Amino acid sequence: LAHGARFAAPIDKSVLASFGMKEDEIQAFQQQRQRYINKDKIFSDEIKIPNKSDMIDYHQLHILSPVDGANASRLLNKLAVIKLNGGLGSRMGCKTSKGSFEIAPGISFLDMAVAHIEQINQDYSVDIPLLIMNSFKTHQETLKNVEKYKNHRISIKTFQQSKFPKMYKDTLNLVPKPNSQFNPKEWYPPGSGDLFRALQSSGILDELISSGKEYLFISNIENMGAIIDLQVLNHIHLQKIEFGLEVTSRINTDSTGGILMSYKDKLHLLELSQVKSDKIKAFKDFRFWNTNNIWINLKAIQALLKDDKLILDWIVAYPNDDHKAMVQLETPVGMGIQNFKNSVAIFVPRDRYRPIKSTSHLLLAQSNLFQFDHGQVKMNPKREGLDVPLIKLGEEFTQISEYEKRFKSIPDMLELDHLTVSGDVYFGSDVTLKGTVIVVANHGERIDIPDGVTLENKILSGTLRI
Ligand code: UTP
Repeated sequence: LAHGARFAAPIDKSVLASFGMKEDEIQAFQQQRQRYINKDKIFSDEIKIPNKSDMIDYHQLHILSPVDGANASRLLNKLAVIKLNGGLGSRMGCKTSKGSFEIAPGISFLDMAVAHIEQINQDYSVDIPLLIMNSFKTHQETLKNVEKYKNHRISIKTFQQSKFPKMYKDTLNLVPKPNSQFNPKEWYPPGSGDLFRALQSSGILDELISSGKEYLFISNIENMGAIIDLQVLNHIHLQKIEFGLEVTSRINTDSTGGILMSYKDKLHLLELSQVKSDKIKAFKDFRFWNTNNIWINLKAIQALLKDDKLILDWIVAYPNDDHKAMVQLETPVGMGIQNFKNSVAIFVPRDRYRPIKSTSHLLLAQSNLFQFDHGQVKMNPKREGLDVPLIKLGEEFTQISEYEKRFKSIPDMLELDHLTVSGDVYFGSDVTLKGTVIVVANHGERIDIPDGVTLENKILSGTLRI
């Protein structure tokens, strides 16, 4: 905490109201700010790695709880799906919403979500609605994008989460000035945990409950593996689970996100940014990674909100789009796990977690390793049984515009195990990559991989030629 922040002065409600913030938004913002000021140490020695035996094993579920057709329709009719779509693909230099991001020519994440639910609605003669939570950054664009599904067999609703003012790090004073024009640089969407409040204030929570819906399946719009799973839904239903968080085994490239921990015998979620640097090493031992695929009982949300007992931890982010030292406090939805009774973690295979957060992820998704089928992404049968290759593209490839320039066409990667690319590298068309391929262009040099070549177990550097 910056020195002055500990003694930060309260912010008058009327100032926040003058920006157009509603009563419940003001309360949520004030609460978070106050909790930040009274900041507790988060990674204490009391936290433990949860036991795998305390989690629900996804594979066991599939063996133990088969669901027959009639039961399946009955269950699916109790479900609503929410896609979190408040973020931009800014890490890849993309200015559009994640939902409109194209993973294959003409197929966006939003198209995938719609196609998947539409297919289930049709197969089981049910009516699962798709709810999309936008932020002020993504709302207008998404409204336009959903128009095209008007005549599809799916009901789509969009709603908008709140916006919070950024604060100066040292004083925790507000960055936006009263009576000034709205400047998006001074505001931010306060994290996916804002979902609970937004569902309530938009009236959608009550609407869903009164139309007979009982469960929510929430996931990041950019997670291609987040498909509706009947066995999980059935288990949530039979065991009266209020909050089910899907976790998977963490791999080395999982960098930003949360881990599952046990604190005073209750499950919690901890995000890397909450961990002090001297504890990072211990944090690395925590292997259960949050997928942000979450199942929640709607009435349980309603009850917690009514009693004002849905209190989420926050993470601090430092916006880097400005030189002034600012902070923004965000709450991830998964942190709700600690508030609910009968909350569980479900240990799922990695294929339920395929987020696109970087161009390395994107390269995998766009390659012939995967196929798209009715809103689901499936491993190419020719690759079945093998792990997904490890891909590390260097910083020249971070921005989507650069990435697109540097691959004339997406290489054939069916037999690839590992690809590392660093420096000023360009791939020609119809390149095939097999085994382990490492391409390193030294500073000041450029490597062009010619059209049509096959690289198999090769190391290319600025001084070596094929
Ligand atoms: P993350 O914070 O994990 O990802 O949000 P991000 O915001 O997309 O940023 P990067 O890629 O890590 O830099 C997880 C999901 O929650 C949504 C995002 O769109 C993403 O699908 N989200 C995040 C919201 O809907 N609202 C928010 O305020 C923040």
